[in-house]
Amino acid sequence: MDELAALKEAFQSELASVQSLADLQQLRNKYSGKKGVLTAQLKSLSSVSPEQRPAFGKSLNEIKEFVESELKTREISFKDGEQEKRLLAERLDITLPGRSVMFGRSHPISQILEEIKGIFVSMGFGIEEGPEVELDHYNFEALNIPKDHPARDMQDTFYVSNEVVLRTHTSPVQVRVMEKRRPPLRIIVPGKVYRCDSDVTHTPMFHQVEGLMVDTDVSFSDLKGVLELFIHNLFGKNTPVRFRPSYFPFTEPSAEVDIGCIFCSGKGCRICKTTGWLEILGSGMVNPRVFEMAGYDPEEYSGFAFGMGVERITMLKYGIDDLRLFFENDLRFLRQF
Ligand code: DAH
Repeated sequence: MDELAALKEAFQSELASVQSLADLQQLRNKYSGKKGVLTAQLKSLSSVSPEQRPAFGKSLNEIKEFVESELKTREISFKDGEQEKRLLAERLDITLPGRSVMFGRSHPISQILEEIKGIFVSMGFGIEEGPEVELDHYNFEALNIPKDHPARDMQDTFYVSNEVVLRTHTSPVQVRVMEKRRPPLRIIVPGKVYRCDSDVTHTPMFHQVEGLMVDTDVSFSDLKGVLELFIHNLFGKNTPVRFRPSYFPFTEPSAEVDIGCIFCSGKGCRICKTTGWLEILGSGMVNPRVFEMAGYDPEEYSGFAFGMGVERITMLKYGIDDLRLFFENDLRFLRQF
């Protein structure tokens, strides 16, 4: 019985110094394993005198139960500890803000282009396109721009060859469409154009929207009505509009269209050069010479045409003073639209 008491004490002190699950397993083998000391004691039961056997057996069982329950308790606390350690190590900081996906958006020029198209489509205009590499014939000749016109100068036009240019405006598409179709005609032509020019207000490539309406009785009042409606849609109902006499070889009479300066409300400022007005497009009644060259009878048909620069309109609409910003792809600029 003394031996049993000593065993129990030895187990307790060894248990106290256990550091890991592995140590614990060793202790289990040593005490309650098949070759463990308690098993050995059980085997020696037969050598105990019959009088002492019941008390010895009972005591041995108690120790065995004690050892096993202690081992179990320790094992659970070890496992809990390890789980805690693992939880700490694998801890997720869910307070960190998420990494948001970057969304693209359409370029300000594309946005205004869509707006312009939408306004004209709502007035019954169809959308047409034409080639950016254009024949001299369509870009100049058929638009009544004679050989010695300054627009034909090498300084303004990118020549691909003697007869081929990068189109300097979208007007050639007027002629291409008239050659293919008969009136009534109501079209706009959005697209890229090219000029050999580069500074704060000019880039070698920019966008224009051309317009053309041809029918039997189209008058200058129709031109005024359509363009005023367009401007009031794009810049607001109360925007003042004025038509100023001008000259284009392909229209007669011609007019430039101004809107009341949206920056100073017409008082005069740096942007409108103190005039109170901003020029936004060119227009006019289609020159009979152009009709003739396209195969329309000028006695039968009349029409108006107009052309505008999309970059210029976008700059005016948003108060942007450097055209080059549109082409630098700086996200700090583009994200504002
Ligand atoms: N093509 C002209 C330009 O690039 C703009 C223009 C003016 C177009 C008058 C027209 C028009 O159709 O009638 O400056």
